[in-house]
Amino acid sequence: MCPPDHYVVEYAINPWMDTRAPVDPDLATKQWEILRDTLAGLGHTVHLLDPVAGLPDMVFAANGAFSVDGVVYGARFRYPQRAGEASTHRRWYEARSVPDGWRFVAPRETNEGEGDFAYLPDAYGGLILAGYGFRTEIAAHAEAQEALGRALVSLRLVEPRFYHLDTALAALDDTNVAYYPGAFSDSSVAVLRQLFPHAVLADAADADAFGLNLVSDGRNVVLNAEATGLANRLREAGYTPIPVDLSELKKGGGSVKCCVAELRV
Ligand code: ARG
Repeated sequence: MCPPDHYVVEYAINPWMDTRAPVDPDLATKQWEILRDTLAGLGHTVHLLDPVAGLPDMVFAANGAFSVDGVVYGARFRYPQRAGEASTHRRWYEARSVPDGWRFVAPRETNEGEGDFAYLPDAYGGLILAGYGFRTEIAAHAEAQEALGRALVSLRLVEPRFYHLDTALAALDDTNVAYYPGAFSDSSVAVLRQLFPHAVLADAADADAFGLNLVSDGRNVVLNAEATGLANRLREAGYTPIPVDLSELKKGGGSVKCCVAELRV
């Protein structure tokens, strides 16, 4: 995670960002700290990236890389405003290659890390789901599959509000997902139905409340507090929803998952 010390909405690169709507920096920090403490309270180790002045979206740490079994496929951001973030993530992993064993693979193709890549370790022997349509180029999907050595399925995003895969789909545990069908092309929905017949389906209200931008440990599902409908559906499916309020981060077009880069050692 990366503290929101320099977080502001001073450019608009997704439909949620409005440069005229001010962010309350103290509230953003407070909400982010509650998220960090919630994850720590669930037993996770939270490492911090040093925030950099002039990179206001660094708080959305999920976009900096995507790792599977110790291999890290680096990000290459679509927009120049965020391009400088990639090297801060790269340095973090490279500094820890010994003793943690990270192997960093530099990307050639445009991709925004965990924003557009999800991993299900026990689905089909280890499956990567990859989004394209707004940020990540489909050429990066092939590059990621080569770098990581896992089967990868490409999914086309068609709705600008859900510009990253992680705004429309989330891994709930090692084998199952939740997703909002309206964010995907009809064919990609058919593929998701084929792969995940028992998926938790979200509706438009859940997706608009950023409910799918969640972090799950397989049981506890940390999600934006506004997504009350999805929280109920998750409870019915046997998960424990843990709501957190991230209203200030939503002004940048992100929520829980965007703030967290998962480390798959
Ligand atoms: N303002 C950021 C952007 O548009 C938000 C990124 C949200 N991150 C995510 N993983 N969906 O790039």
